Amino acid sequence: MSEKILVIGANGQIGTELVVALRKIHGPESVIASDINDPGYAIRHSGPYELVNVLDKDNLHHIFEKHRPTQVYLLAAILSAVGEQKPKLAWDLNMTGLIHILDFAVEFKTAKVFWPSSIAVFGPNSPQFHTPQYCVMDPNTVYGFSKLAGERWCEYYFTKYGLDVRSIRYPGLIGWRANPGGGTTDYAVHIFHEALKTGKYTSFLSADTALPMMYMDDAIRATISLMDAPAEQLTIRSSYNLAGISFTPTQLAEEIKKQIPDFEISYAENDPRQAIADSWPKSIDDEYAQRDWGWKLEYDLATMTNDMLTNLKTVI
Ligand SMILES: NC(=O)c1ccc[n+]([C@@H]2O[C@H](COP(=O)([O-])OP(=O)(O)OC[C@H]3O[C@@H](n4cnc5c(N)ncnc54)[C@H](O)[C@@H]3O)[C@@H](O)[C@H]2O)c1
Repeated sequence: MSEKILVIGANGQIGTELVVALRKIHGPESVIASDINDPGYAIRHSGPYELVNVLDKDNLHHIFEKHRPTQVYLLAAILSAVGEQKPKLAWDLNMTGLIHILDFAVEFKTAKVFWPSSIAVFGPNSPQFHTPQYCVMDPNTVYGFSKLAGERWCEYYFTKYGLDVRSIRYPGLIGWRANPGGGTTDYAVHIFHEALKTGKYTSFLSADTALPMMYMDDAIRATISLMDAPAEQLTIRSSYNLAGISFTPTQLAEEIKKQIPDFEISYAENDPRQAIADSWPKSIDDEYAQRDWGWKLEYDLATMTNDMLTNLKTVI
């Protein structure tokens, strides 16, 4: 069957890379990029593009009717740090946007839907190390509990309407092609830009704040592998844990120093993102992803750092 793939929120940190990867696999005309904002050069010139507001039901209905997508990737959301500044907007976009997509996917018989969750679904009473798939979940950010509620909606639509919806709890994502969109792990992207531009960086998270992270190449590969996995192998229809690599700002700075020996890191105090980071896991257990769809991480801290610096140098 030839695919028609709609990516909503295509201009963001993940969408920018996912659209390119999907167009390579399925051909440019099969992947419709869409976003509420105008696209950047790479997306606009590599295939079809639609302006879409996921909160506007009529606009969205028109897009489903026009393209009849076989797969939808919903990436439009407000992330953790921005969500704390705009809590009602974050709840509205993250929930209403998702429910619109789930409803239209059922109505238009979309074969598969991908919607990302986050490690933000865990909270201060979740186990902090090797956080398991199933445990206490008491997120205390709007972003976190919008993602947790979203996971419940996904599983509900799978059970009640048979919608083939698939999801990953992404760790903090690090890539060189696009800037991050206002999350708690953004420091781990900014640090590379500043290391190359100025040779120093002030981290908004403290020196020993360990968080689960993942290189974008691994995240894109995980997303496409999950979407390609046979439906009968998937035992989780809420969202799969994905471990990635856990490290602190100090450990990342040490790795960068191996290539930029004069690089200096300092630490800001009293940044509101510290409290968010402190409520999240330090490391994740992803045994279900390994078992159900054969997930295996490729990039560790050293190979990720090397790839980031090599590629960023060519664009900044
Ligand atoms: N980047 C990460 O580290 C990370 C980690 C965990 C989960 N996630 C999840 O992955 C998804 C994508 O994240 P991202 O980092 O690419 O986000 P981002 O903020 O970089 O991109 C989101 C995109 O959505 C678009 N958008 C906003 N409102 C819209 C609307 N009403 N209609 C259509 N488009 C709209 C924005 O213009 C933007 O291009 C989100 O659900 C996010 O919660 C991301």
